[in-house]
Amino acid sequence: MSRIIEVENVSKTLSRRQVLNNVSFTVKKNSITGFIGPNGAGKTTMIRILTGLISCSGTVKLSGIPIHDKTRALKNVGAMVEMPVFSSYMTGYQNLYALALLDSTMNQRTRRARIREVIALVGLQGREHNKVKGYSLGMKQRLGIAQALLNNPEILILDEPTNGLDPVVTKEIRDIILKLNRERGVTMLISSHLLGELEKLCDDFIIISRGRIVKQGSKDSILSAGGTGHLEDAFLHLMAGGE
Ligand SMILES: Nc1ncnc2c1ncn2[C@@H]1O[C@H](COP(=O)(O)OP(=O)(O)OP(=O)(O)O)[C@@H](O)[C@H]1O
Ligand SMILES: [Mg+2]
Repeated sequence: MSRIIEVENVSKTLSRRQVLNNVSFTVKKNSITGFIGPNGAGKTTMIRILTGLISCSGTVKLSGIPIHDKTRALKNVGAMVEMPVFSSYMTGYQNLYALALLDSTMNQRTRRARIREVIALVGLQGREHNKVKGYSLGMKQRLGIAQALLNNPEILILDEPTNGLDPVVTKEIRDIILKLNRERGVTMLISSHLLGELEKLCDDFIIISRGRIVKQGSKDSILSAGGTGHLEDAFLHLMAGGE
């Protein structure tokens, strides 16, 4: 299976602190890959690198295109990094429209059609013309995913997409992610501390701690590390220095 994200020997220093230390991993095309690690491990920093928000040393390729060729490399990438930011006095639709205006490859008609499509994909129909300030956290997450989907990406990178959501909304977001992956073949890289949630979603895992990759592998190979078949046990085992 081909590798759609390739990260090789990536290091990053922030405020004289080495936050990423020779990080290498790959993500398979069409997979859902979980990116897990303790607080401060470097997940968001790595995701900020993958989405072109900050630079790094080392090599990053997206669909084979080096990240320093930013426009081409990021053309097929959608992302939601930490809490998405919206104009709260505008409606969900208006927020999406403002973002779509930045994409000069779309004309008015395709913009409107694309916005309607992403609203349906994330299940915001009926609420898209309400102001965002009245949205629940779950609706804001849906809108954040809708924004990330606007450019019809092949790769979707989500940083803690279900953080703080109730179990019902968490399941709805999981179903959106699975649908995008299964029906549209979107490759997903998802960071989260909700290991039970990732266990249900992911085909592969990348585990990072203190800026270094601890282990990367298929769900089976990672889960077997804990001896119980559960991601949480495998994670705790690996964090305690186990193999
Ligand atoms: N702009 C910055 N300047 C200095 N240090 C930073 C900066 N941004 C992040 N860091 C540090 O880099 C380390 C990694 O942070 P990062 O946000 O990538 O971790 P994370 O794995 O996403 O953690 P969490 O699970 O809590 O979201 C942390 O120690 C953090 O304090
Ligand atoms: Mg983070």
